[in-house]
Amino acid sequence: MDCIGVVGAGLMGHGIALQFAVGGYEVSLTDTSEKNLQLARENIDNSLTSLVELGLVDDATASDVPGRIHTIVPMAQAMDKVNFVVEAVYEDLALKQEVFAQLDKVCPPDAVLTSNTSSFMTSQLASSTARPDKVLVANWWNPPFLLPLVEVVRGPDTSDETVETATAIFESVGKKPVVLSKESLGFIGNRMQFALLREALFIVDNGIASAEDVDTVVKTSFGRRLAVAGPFEVFDIAGWDTISKIIDQLFPDLDSTAGIPTSVSEMVSQGELGVKSGSGFYKWDNQSVGALRSRIASTLSMLESMSQET
Ligand SMILES: NC(=O)c1ccc[n+]([C@@H]2O[C@H](COP(=O)([O-])OP(=O)(O)OC[C@H]3O[C@@H](n4cnc5c(N)ncnc54)[C@H](O)[C@@H]3O)[C@@H](O)[C@H]2O)c1
Repeated sequence: MDCIGVVGAGLMGHGIALQFAVGGYEVSLTDTSEKNLQLARENIDNSLTSLVELGLVDDATASDVPGRIHTIVPMAQAMDKVNFVVEAVYEDLALKQEVFAQLDKVCPPDAVLTSNTSSFMTSQLASSTARPDKVLVANWWNPPFLLPLVEVVRGPDTSDETVETATAIFESVGKKPVVLSKESLGFIGNRMQFALLREALFIVDNGIASAEDVDTVVKTSFGRRLAVAGPFEVFDIAGWDTISKIIDQLFPDLDSTAGIPTSVSEMVSQGELGVKSGSGFYKWDNQSVGALRSRIASTLSMLESMSQET
């Protein structure tokens, strides 16, 4: 059985470690301090309890999970026996390149190194190693134990064997890997998600509607449909003759600016970072954040259960 290394035990790292441990793997999880790893163990316990409450993990599996996750601070010690690594440190290219260079030195020579980056390309990370054939981007979605997708992005030097190893490991823990045909910044999901975000911010910044109304529109219309049918399925139903007329009218009017929108730069400069600071487009306290998280988790778990039945 493979031993999985996870570097960075934050929001994504703890969840990815949990998913692998639920799937039966031994996991070696590292971060920069024992304090961070203690917090990760607490987050793993809480997320595992939610999975049991949601009926997605049985009690017998849950009782085995904590013993499968080994938390170790020194990276050399944590990664010396792993076969497959998921890097989930901050989204900072220089830091990730430094981590990949370190991983290349301390991991066994045949270990596959993957990055959970949201935006960088495989070639930007593989170049920091002497094993570019064994490096790829594998972008999980949050929460990683409830959303099935892992986007697999090979670089120009990634071998077929590495792609096959990665997809087989992801499938073995119930994930749905999608392999891109070539590298692109942001892959598929984030290119689309951020195109939507740009337009949502344009609508708010130009006084067309409030943030709350934008959220309501998405949640009560195409957002619901997108959980069960992709845009190409949806628009095949709508008919491309009609869609081409709408494109002709609408595309020239959609936002295409490249800079950070005014509302976002103002919020960031005022320390309004969203849930983590207590306000963003909405005001947040522990209760309202808990309610939102539990609404998302219970709906995603319902969708996950439905997809397992089909
Ligand atoms: N947050 C999301 O929804 C999401 C979704 C998909 C992908 N991602 C990507 O996953 C990665 C991690 O994001 P996150 O939200 O989990 O961040 P996070 O801030 O919650 O966690 C990052 C962790 O990395 C640790 N770290 C930093 N430098 C390290 C080092 N040198 N060695 C070991 N650990 C180190 C930090 O201490 C921290 O615990 C980023 O690349 C992000 O873009 C995030």
